[in-house]
Amino acid sequence: MKERREKMETLMPDWTEYELVDSGAGKKLERFGEFTLIRPEPQAKWEMILPAQRWETADGEFVKATSSQRGEWRFRKPLPARWTMQRKNLKFLVQPAPSGHVGLFPDQACHWDWVEARTKRAARPLKVLCLFGHTGLATLAAAATGAEVTHVDASRKAVTLARENQCLSGLQKQPIRWIVEDAMTFVRREARRGSRYDAILLDPPRFGRGPDGEIWKLEESLLELLSACRKILNETPVFILLNVYSTVLTQGRIEKEAEGLRSVLKKMLEGFQARTTAGELAIEDAGRRRISSSVFARVEF
Ligand SMILES: C[S@@+](CC[C@H](N)C(=O)[O-])C[C@H]1O[C@@H](n2cnc3c(N)ncnc32)[C@H](O)[C@@H]1O
Repeated sequence: MKERREKMETLMPDWTEYELVDSGAGKKLERFGEFTLIRPEPQAKWEMILPAQRWETADGEFVKATSSQRGEWRFRKPLPARWTMQRKNLKFLVQPAPSGHVGLFPDQACHWDWVEARTKRAARPLKVLCLFGHTGLATLAAAATGAEVTHVDASRKAVTLARENQCLSGLQKQPIRWIVEDAMTFVRREARRGSRYDAILLDPPRFGRGPDGEIWKLEESLLELLSACRKILNETPVFILLNVYSTVLTQGRIEKEAEGLRSVLKKMLEGFQARTTAGELAIEDAGRRRISSSVFARVEF
């Protein structure tokens, strides 16, 4: 029987400290708490709405070198190397890095809310595994509602920032295991040890490296990782979230990618009764022009 395709969701975060102020001419102007930054944004092929004088008041800009993928921050006035931002009960650091990243992905706030709601309403304290967990905001959203979380990321710097975010958020007493390791190596070892989890979050990059040079390539590694994750799910799991940053920008391709994630998760979970939804994360600027960032699939058991 042909399966009915469910409508794809587009989720946009709701918070006051972060704002996509404007976009256009291949750039975005974002406010992170008290400072505004300009970063490259290939999707912003349209014109800026705000006048050039407004863009000129930005505190800093990440400028990409034309000849390579590299770039540099140019600050227009002395800025602190990092500053604190807040969303709901989480406090965390914004730290412009040489990569152009700033220590958080604001669009992901929709996932933090979803994770928080699922851990809060669970009938038991959950054991959650957060793979590719970066600076820990999804981990902290789960921990804040009583989950016991294992956070895995290949980058020691990201995990150090995540631990600082834990303290800033007042969650130092929550049971979080911080692990700097290749995600695949960690999951395989957990499977061998017989460890089990109630929920798994995965936010893999398209390409990455483990701390010992292990290569992660989404296209080649995802199915293998999901099959290893299947082995560490307990008998009555609660949720799974798989998020992938998107490089494809047309609506049709985004839907196809999201649908692809949903079907790999469904395949991984054959034998379980579960509801799987899929969608994209996006952010709108003041002119309601939408910038898509990633596609996701979510499973609730
Ligand atoms: C897209 S970011 C995660 C964003 C995060 N969920 C958030 O909300 O801010 C991907 C993360 O994967 C990590 N990573 C890359 N390759 C890895 C690997 N082989 N094993 C574990 N982590 C890896 C990177 O260090 C990075 O922190």
